[in-house]
Amino acid sequence: AAAPRVLSGIQPTAGSFQLGNYLGAVKQWVAMQDDHDAFYCVVDLHAITVEQDPKELHANTLLAYAQLLAAGVDPDRATLFVQSQVPEHAQLGWVMQCITGFGEANRMTQFKDKSARGGSDHASVGLFTYPILQVADILIYQADAVPVGEDQRQHLELTRDLAQRFNSRYGTTFTVPQPFIVKDTAKILDLQDPTAKMSKSLPHGAVFLLDDPKVIAKRLKSAVTDSETEVRFDPDTKPGVSNLLTILGAFTGRDVESLVLDYDGKGYGALKGDAAEAVVAFAQPFAARVAELQADPAELTRLMGAGAAKAQAVASTTLATVYERMGF
Ligand code: ADP
Ligand code: NA
Repeated sequence: AAAPRVLSGIQPTAGSFQLGNYLGAVKQWVAMQDDHDAFYCVVDLHAITVEQDPKELHANTLLAYAQLLAAGVDPDRATLFVQSQVPEHAQLGWVMQCITGFGEANRMTQFKDKSARGGSDHASVGLFTYPILQVADILIYQADAVPVGEDQRQHLELTRDLAQRFNSRYGTTFTVPQPFIVKDTAKILDLQDPTAKMSKSLPHGAVFLLDDPKVIAKRLKSAVTDSETEVRFDPDTKPGVSNLLTILGAFTGRDVESLVLDYDGKGYGALKGDAAEAVVAFAQPFAARVAELQADPAELTRLMGAGAAKAQAVASTTLATVYERMGF
């Protein structure tokens, strides 16, 4: 049987990936490309649901693409592309909007969360309908599975509903994708407030992989822990220490139980120092590779074009069927 097809996207808004982006998403992308037919995209169309500076958006898109390559996404084994370069996403997105009920779209909780600050009157209609563009991102490739976190579950349910609706109205056209719960996906916590998820929007508690190694090491060494001294993995009562163990384990490939034994009789300082060393050992060559890729924008542009062509070969086939079924 053919390898199952997966689709995943990442927004280009981040400058440097933070540790959580890498361990929680990109590392899994790299792992999945071997036994999946993987389609990975930088979702710049999603980025414009909030206002973007065009120059910055362009630079961030190149940077995100370069970081994915540097992290190990292999354009020969995966299809790595930029969403706006494959217009079928937006074309299918419109079709999908037209078979979505307004009430159904209105039940997507992320719009309420994301528009809460400015008020929904100031949010764009694109922010309201972006889950439907996400539906198109998935269905246009006939993806069998989509790696999803808890916050994306509702959108995958919408994807399945719309695929089934289209199939029953117009004849079987789309693969109905399954959620793909990625095992061992680390949830990385904020280093200064280990009750929160690490995020680029909380920059003081985040580790940015393109930062200077000294800055990275300092961030880890000044991580907030607790008033005890014993290194134990207990996310509920010792979130800071457990977070450091998760990070160290992820970068050294060691399981947390065996790591804990190493720190018997040692304090938190040793754990922090080792975590710092392990992150820097990854971040240094990563940053060097990103710099190399950025120094050759023509090659980056060539890779993006080749990725878009590979993606479009699939996307245009799906869209042609959709248009024909709908009477266009
Ligand atoms: P940020 O919170 O930095 O803005 P995004 O929301 O853009 O990150 O997320 C990009 C990807 O990285 C998503 O797949 C998300 O699940 C993952 N991710 C982000 N932060 C973390 C984290 N702290 N732990 C695990 N995964 C994370
Ligand atoms: Na976020």
